[in-house]
Amino acid sequence: MTDATATMDVYEAVTSRRAVRRFTDREVPREVLERVLSAAAWSPSGSNLQPWHAYVLTGEPLAELKKLTGERAADGDPWDEPEFQMYPPDLKSPYRERRSDFGEKRYGALGISREDWDARRRAATDNWECFGAPAALFCYIDRDMGPPQWSDVGMYLQTVMLLLRAEGLHSCAQMAWSVYRRTVAEVLSPPSGLILYCGMSIGYEDVTAAYARTGRAPLHETVTFLES
Ligand SMILES: Cc1cc2nc3c(=O)[nH]c(=O)nc-3n(C[C@H](O)[C@H](O)[C@H](O)COP(=O)(O)O)c2cc1C
Repeated sequence: MTDATATMDVYEAVTSRRAVRRFTDREVPREVLERVLSAAAWSPSGSNLQPWHAYVLTGEPLAELKKLTGERAADGDPWDEPEFQMYPPDLKSPYRERRSDFGEKRYGALGISREDWDARRRAATDNWECFGAPAALFCYIDRDMGPPQWSDVGMYLQTVMLLLRAEGLHSCAQMAWSVYRRTVAEVLSPPSGLILYCGMSIGYEDVTAAYARTGRAPLHETVTFLES
C-alpha cells in the first residue's frame, strides 16, 4: 500500500467509487485482497451474524468461469431459474425513471441508442467477462436469511468496494452473475444451502474507456429532516 492510498479520506473513497466496466489486465496482489477482506470483515450486521460468504477468484479458476459463461452467453443459453427477484416486476415511479435514466447513461456512453436492444444485450455480455478484470468476488448468502441479513451483505459489499478504493483499485458489483449461477457453482462448489447474490469485478481501471457518471436524486427526494 502506498502512503497516498493508505490515507484516502472516507468521503473520497465514497465519491470516487463507481461501477467501473473496463479494467486493465494488471494483476491484483493476493495480499491486497486479503488486507481488504480482513478489514471488511469488520462490517456491521444485526446480532453480528456476518451472513456473507465470499469467494475470490483470480487466475485459472476465473479464466475457466469466464470461458464457461462466455460459451453459454454466445450460445444464447437460457438463464438459470432465478433464486431471487432482482427488481420488482412493475417498477413504479420514481424508480422506473431512475432505472431508465441509468440505462440511457450506461449505454449512451458506448454509443448505443435507447432502442438498440441487441447492442445493449451484447454490451451486457461484458458482465461475464468481468469487464476484463483479473479478479472477482462472488458473494453468497444462506437461503434461510431474510431481508435484514441481505441488507447486512450489502453493507459488507460496500465496505469491500470502499476499501478497494483505498488500495487504488476499482470494482463493479454484478447481480448479472446470478443468471448463470449454476455455472458459477460448477467452478466454486459452494455448499447447497447458499444463494448467489452477486459477483464483483475487481481490478485497476482502464482509464481510456468511455463512461458516463451516474447521478443521484437530490437530497430532499430521499432524506427527510424533522426539526423543531
Ligand atoms: C447489488 C448491485 C448489483 C449490480 N449489478 C450490476 C450488474 O450486474 N452489471 C453492471 O454493469 N452493474 C451492476 N451494478 C452497478 C450499478 O448499475 C451501479 O452501482 C449504479 O448504476 C450506480 O452507479 P455507480 O455505482 O457508478 O455510482 C450493480 C450494483 C449493485 C449495488
